[in-house]
Amino acid sequence: MDQARAIETLTYSGAISQALAREHQTITNAIELISEAVLSGAPPTTVECLLDMLVTFCEGHFTSEERYLNDRGYRESRSHATAHEDLLRLCRAAQSLGREGLLGYTGEISFLLRSLRSHIDNFDKPAHASIDLASSATA
Ligand SMILES: [Fe+2]
Ligand SMILES: [Fe+2]
Repeated sequence: MDQARAIETLTYSGAISQALAREHQTITNAIELISEAVLSGAPPTTVECLLDMLVTFCEGHFTSEERYLNDRGYRESRSHATAHEDLLRLCRAAQSLGREGLLGYTGEISFLLRSLRSHIDNFDKPAHASIDLASSATA
């Protein structure tokens, strides 16, 4: 089963945490793909296209994740949403530079990719673990 179908199936069956975890895998895979494209000297239009897909995917993911955290009363959901806004600002800045042909691959892209990876490790994983722990304690 491909990743998009797995995410859709998990979401519609109510396994939101698992769907979001799959989305994190998708984001991580996209980050690796963009990194490889940059390192292999792919044309700027290719990198920009991949970046556009990543940003669109992240917008949807952030919305779903914020709803998930809010619905479960996660105490740090506001600061988590602020971190998402910061990431989207970085994404859009990189997109703007790309459209103007000014994207410095060793600068803006690597910073954006590191920031996304760091967010998953330092914000998402602890948030999801906290919710999983709270729901297993009440089960
Ligand atoms: Fe997040
Ligand atoms: Fe996330």
